[in-house]
Amino acid sequence: MARVKLGCLISGRGSNLQALIDACADPTFPAEIALVLSNKPGVMGLERAVKAGIPTQVISHKDFDGRPAFDAALDQTLRAAGVEIVCLAGFMRLLTPEFVTSWGDKILNIHPSLLPAFKGLDTHQRAIDSGARFAGCTVHIVRPAMDEGPILVQAAVPILDGDTEDSLAARILTAEHKAYPEAVRLLASGKVTVEGLRCRIDAPTDETIHFN
Ligand code: GAR
Repeated sequence: MARVKLGCLISGRGSNLQALIDACADPTFPAEIALVLSNKPGVMGLERAVKAGIPTQVISHKDFDGRPAFDAALDQTLRAAGVEIVCLAGFMRLLTPEFVTSWGDKILNIHPSLLPAFKGLDTHQRAIDSGARFAGCTVHIVRPAMDEGPILVQAAVPILDGDTEDSLAARILTAEHKAYPEAVRLLASGKVTVEGLRCRIDAPTDETIHFN
C-alpha cells in the first residue's frame, strides 16, 4: 500500500524529525517523509534529513513581506512535493488561519506540555513553578489559535524534586520521540476521526494513546 507523504517543518535541532525519520525507516510504517522544510538555514535538522537522503528546502521567513506571503510559499512547496500530512517538528513560526484551514485536519504539532496547560513558550519552567507533579507532551491537530486543536496523543512524565528546566525538558523529549511517530501512525493509517475538539481513534489500545 502507498505510504502517506509527510512534509516536516523545522526550525532547529530536529530531534523529533529524527524520531520520524527512524519510524519511517520501518517499511511497515504507513508514512514516509517527502520533504523537510526549514525556515532557518544551517540548522541541525537539515543535516539529519540530508543524512537520511530526504529532500530539504530552506524558506526563510525573512525573505518575505509578512506571514501570508511566507505561508503561501510554504504551501506551494509542500503541495508541489505531494505532501499529504504536515508535521510541525519544532517549527517556531505561527501559521496563518488561511494556511491552517486549507490543510483541514492534516497538520500535526508537538508541544512540550500536557495541553491545554502551558501553551506558548517557556513551558518547562512554568510547569515546575506551578507545583504540578506531572508534565509531558502533546501531539495535536493544528487549529489557527496557537497550541490549540484536537489532541491525538499525550505522554505524561513526573516532575521530580530538584528538577531543573533542562532535566525536565530532557525527560519530556524522550516521551516526545515516542509520541510523535505514534500520532503520525494513527493519522496516516486513517484511524482518526475528528469530532470538535476530540479525536476518536478506531480500535485504540490503552498503550497507543496513554503510553509513557
Ligand atoms: C520540542 O521540545 C518541541 O516539543 C518544541 O520544540 C522542541 C523542538 O525540538 N516545540 C514547541 O515548543 C512548539 N510550540 P527538536 O527540534 O529537537 O524536535
